[in-house]
Amino acid sequence: MRNLKIETGRLVITKFDESMVESVHLNSLDENNRKFVPDEVFETLEETRETILFLMKCYDGENNGPLVYPIILKSGENIGYVQAVPLGNSEWEIGYHIAENYTRNGYATEAVMAFVPVITKLLGITQIWGICRGDNIASRKVLEKCSFKLQNKSIGNYKGEKHEVYKYLYSIT
Ligand SMILES: CC(C)(COP(=O)(O)OP(=O)(O)OC[C@H]1O[C@@H](n2cnc3c(N)ncnc32)[C@H](O)[C@@H]1OP(=O)(O)O)[C@@H](O)C(=O)NCCC(=O)NCCS
Repeated sequence: MRNLKIETGRLVITKFDESMVESVHLNSLDENNRKFVPDEVFETLEETRETILFLMKCYDGENNGPLVYPIILKSGENIGYVQAVPLGNSEWEIGYHIAENYTRNGYATEAVMAFVPVITKLLGITQIWGICRGDNIASRKVLEKCSFKLQNKSIGNYKGEKHEVYKYLYSIT
């Protein structure tokens, strides 16, 4: 069981439930999401519901994830998610989205900083990757502020398109 509940100063990181279908759908339609993570845009409520039901089952599965957790403001709004996605060979990658109306408030940094120690412990791993497009300045800043270290930059396939790709690694020392 990979349920979790993390509380930070302003946020609660918890598990999905069906009441979040509409907010997840609306959050996913952001321009930033379309540009940088087009595979995480859910165009319809039905597609969103199916995805959430699938993700809820993943909490109970073996270590084949993805493990995705909504980020809720203490005032109640669902503002995004943070996730760990298996890459194979026991390696995992972190991912995150903050809905556009809530960006530039430090929420992604606050969520990732709290999530990394908890999810690495839960998965029994000592390192986790952060992989993003070179032109995703906000994402690179989040990783760097959360102590991920740049391992390499290369031109390669990113979600089916050719882009400069930055690969960061967080290691527990
Ligand atoms: C990347 C993302 C999660 C950042 O969320 P956020 O809550 O705004 O991040 P933070 O507020 O913690 O900001 C981190 C840094 O990025 C900067 N930043 C935020 N949005 C930015 C933007 N659009 N352009 C440039 N810098 C930006 C912040 O100012 C901050 O830098 P600072 O500490 O030097 O001021 C959000 O923009 C997003 O969800 N984007 C779409 C999905 C995505 O790209 N996910 C990552 C895939 S690898």
